[in-house]
Amino acid sequence: MYLRILVLFFLNGYVTLASDPDPVQDFCISEIEPATNTNHCKNSSAATVEDFVYSGIKSPGKFGPTGLSAISVNSNIFPGLNTLGMSFVRADFEVGGVNVPHYHPRATEIAFVLQGKVYSGFVDTNNKVFAKVIEKGEVMVFPKGMVHFQMNVGDTPATILGSFNSQNPGLQRIPTAVFGSGIKDELLEKAFGLSSKELSKLKKRFAPH
Ligand SMILES: *[C@@H]1O[C@H](CO)[C@@H](O)[C@H](O)[C@H]1NC(C)=O
Repeated sequence: MYLRILVLFFLNGYVTLASDPDPVQDFCISEIEPATNTNHCKNSSAATVEDFVYSGIKSPGKFGPTGLSAISVNSNIFPGLNTLGMSFVRADFEVGGVNVPHYHPRATEIAFVLQGKVYSGFVDTNNKVFAKVIEKGEVMVFPKGMVHFQMNVGDTPATILGSFNSQNPGLQRIPTAVFGSGIKDELLEKAFGLSSKELSKLKKRFAPH
């Protein structure tokens, strides 16, 4: 009986500790303190509305080799998000453009199709794929840490707006993490059954630039 209460007590404690702490102030616009080069909250009486507006995603950014432009609006580029537990992304796809398989270690993402038709999906830890074409006005959720991907399958450009339940979701692209990170060749050749020629082609393609 005592043991059961004890277990319940600890389980309850665990659940409580498993969530992000709530902010203890209205907001904390992060600012570098020049003297110590550390982050601190800007004095709230010096805050203005401009601290809460980000204007850098009115149009797409530069398109990469897979036909994708993705602009992350996280707390690093939008300090007003600091401590608020959320962030945003604008992704634009050329016709046929691909957002390569990737994941966000610290956040669930919910993505809204502003325009276009996008084959969109994720893979769970049983390697089951959940994917379909979603269209303008639909949203899809990508659970935290799951590998996900998108491709514009329509014949016009596509735009997706996504939000995250972390101010800094993090991003790892699978091809770059595997082939562009400097893991030893012998390991990659064995792991993927590649010849050294095949591997060097992949390494060249996914080298960081
Ligand atoms: C914030 O700014 C106000 C007005 O300038 C000042 O009175 C206050 O002392 C400042 N607070 C801190 C913590 O520096």
